[in-house]
Amino acid sequence: MPTMGALHEGHISLLKRARLECDYVTVSIYVNPTQFEEQQAHESYPRDLKNDLELCNEIGVDFVFTPDNSEIYAKNDETIVTLPRLGTVLEGASRPGHFAGVAGVVLRLLNIVDADRAYFGAKDAQQIRVIKRLVKDLHISTAIIECPTVRTSDGLALSSRNVFLNPHERIQALSLSAGLFKAEQAFQIGERSARQLRRLVRSTIVDQDIISIDYVSLADSETLAELTGDVQNDALLSIAAMVGSTRLIDNVVLVV
Ligand code: PAJ
Repeated sequence: MPTMGALHEGHISLLKRARLECDYVTVSIYVNPTQFEEQQAHESYPRDLKNDLELCNEIGVDFVFTPDNSEIYAKNDETIVTLPRLGTVLEGASRPGHFAGVAGVVLRLLNIVDADRAYFGAKDAQQIRVIKRLVKDLHISTAIIECPTVRTSDGLALSSRNVFLNPHERIQALSLSAGLFKAEQAFQIGERSARQLRRLVRSTIVDQDIISIDYVSLADSETLAELTGDVQNDALLSIAAMVGSTRLIDNVVLVV
């Protein structure tokens, strides 16, 4: 299971599932520099190796791989992996180069660890779609296992970045998932208009002093092509927003 550390219950749920399903579990903890656009964001990413190792030990992880940069990227390393369609919309549009960084590091990690199965969270919806595409296109034999998003009891999707939220921002951040759930409920009782469903999410985010929406998207769940008319196939409803100075993402899948 690839991670960037600062492990929380979201990571732990994936690890427990891996522990149940696999003979040997390897966790990588590596804050990959190539997926951050700004060096500052890479440097300030939360790190807590001591606690991470304790958690891995409690769960019964067999191997923890904590590479340094030179173990992942050889001297004069220059191979890049880009997904010109899946990697450039949504998060890829807001964070150019991000998915080349993610795809590049995951490919290197899969090749180093040579796992039969690799576990990823639905929380990072576009990321898992990118990884599934990459694995299929490049004929990699690792099975990609998707695990549900873990949330706090009040709905906030767990994220290593949540530690940056102050108490007031933490409360405001709940409106992201609240908006998604409201639209999901409307969908379940028959609302199919993509425009209306996106509007429902936006209308739930009221405190614009603290929250600045980057995008609210309703896209085909597989291709991530933005929907214009009515939802006819499974669709990914996703949001990205700055809450104070912390960027959060969340999503739900609307299943027809
Ligand atoms: P990281 O943010 O540490 O996440 C590691 C894995 O945990 C990802 O597959 C992510 O989707 C999953 N995850 C995080 N929060 C979750 C939650 N609340 N519920 C369920 N799963 C959750 O994602 C990355 O690291 C990196 O991009 C990585 C894939 C390791 C490449 O560097």
